[in-house]
Amino acid sequence: MELETTITSVDTTDTGVLIRWSSGHRSRLHALWLRDNCPSGGDREKAFRTFSVVDLNPDLFVIEAGFTDDGDVSIEYSDGHVSVFDPAWLAANDPEPVARRREPRRITHVRAGVDIPRMALPDPRSLAHLELLNAVAEYGAVLVDDVPLEPLGTEALAALIGRVRETDFGRIFDIVVEPDVWEFSQTGLALDPHTDDPYRYTPSGTSLLHCIDASSAGGDTILVDGFAVASQLEEDDPDAFDLLTEVSVPFVRHRPESVDQGEDVHLVAHAPIISLDRDREVAGIRFHERSMGTLDVDPSQMGDYYRALIEFAKRINDPMSALQFRLESGQAIVYDNQRMLHGRTAFGPEGGRRHLRLCTIDRDQFHSRLRRLRADHDRPGVDERLPSGSLS
Ligand SMILES: [Fe+2]
Repeated sequence: MELETTITSVDTTDTGVLIRWSSGHRSRLHALWLRDNCPSGGDREKAFRTFSVVDLNPDLFVIEAGFTDDGDVSIEYSDGHVSVFDPAWLAANDPEPVARRREPRRITHVRAGVDIPRMALPDPRSLAHLELLNAVAEYGAVLVDDVPLEPLGTEALAALIGRVRETDFGRIFDIVVEPDVWEFSQTGLALDPHTDDPYRYTPSGTSLLHCIDASSAGGDTILVDGFAVASQLEEDDPDAFDLLTEVSVPFVRHRPESVDQGEDVHLVAHAPIISLDRDREVAGIRFHERSMGTLDVDPSQMGDYYRALIEFAKRINDPMSALQFRLESGQAIVYDNQRMLHGRTAFGPEGGRRHLRLCTIDRDQFHSRLRRLRADHDRPGVDERLPSGSLS
C-alpha cells in the first residue's frame, strides 16, 4: 500500500498535534512522542541516539505547529526546542492503529492437498533467492531441488537463510540410524509431527532438512501447518484456543551424559503451545509431545487444559492436516520451525541407509535477510508484520 505523505493541516491539541492527510486520515501525535523522536536526537534504527527519555519533561506540551518553507512539519515545544519532521517519516511511523496495520500478513495455510512451493537451489542475492525466502514466509516451507550432497551443499542452502545456530546437536546434525541410540530420530520409528527445541527459551527458527540418501523403505516426510490448525481451532473452539495461548506448560530435555555429537544438557522452558502477537494473531507454535514435562497447570484449570490439549493434538495428527511426501536424495525442505510441525513415517533397513542432515538458523536472522532482499529487489513487504514466533 502506498503511504499517504501529503499533509493538509497541522494543528495543536491538548496533548500534542493533530495532522490531517489528503486521504482524510488523521494522526494524533503526542508531544512526548514527537519530542522523543525529534531527528536531532539521532538515528533510532541504527541505535545511534544521543537523546534519552530521561531528558523528557513529563509535562511537555506543544506551543506552535506548522510548516517550514520546504513543506516539512515544524513543532515548537514548551521547553523551547524546535523539531522539524519529514512528512514521509511521520507517515511511516504514525502510531495510529490504522496506519500500524498498513501491511497485512501474507500467510497461506497449508493442509492435505495444498502443496508447498518447489524450486531449484538459487544463486545468492538473486530474485529466486528472495522467492525462496518469500515462500517460507508465506507457506511455512519450501521444497528445494538439486542441493549438492556434500556438506558444503547443505551449508550453501543454509547460508541463503542466515548464520547457522550451533546447538548441543552440533552445527549440522546427521540423522541416521545409529547402533547406540541417544536421540529418538536415530531409530527407524515414526515421528509424530512436532516443532524442534520447545524446551529452549528461543527454539530453532528456520530449519532445513537435506536428504542425502533416501534409499530406505518408508521414511516419508510429514509437514503440518500449525498456524492453519490453530486458526481452525480458534474458530471451532475459542475456549480451548484461549487456554492454549494463555497457559504456559513445561518442555524438558535432560541428557546427563555427553554423546558423540552432543553435550550433556538439562534444558527447561515454560511457554504456551500457541503464541500470539500484539494484534492477537497466531505468531508461533511450540509443540512436541515427547518433550512435554509433567503438566503443572493450576488444578482448577487442569481438566479444561487437558481437553484443549487433546483436541489440539488430535487435529495436529489428523491426516487431513498433513502434507506427506518422500524427500529424494539432493532435495531439501526449508521450514519455519515455529509454525510447521515436521515428522516422518517409520522406515526399515531394506534398500539402503536413510541419511538426512539438519541445521537451523535463528528466526530473526531469516526475517532480517528477507527484509533486506525485498529492499534490494525493490519488492513490497519490507514493513510487513512477520510472525515473531514462539515467545513465552
Ligand atoms: Fe524434529
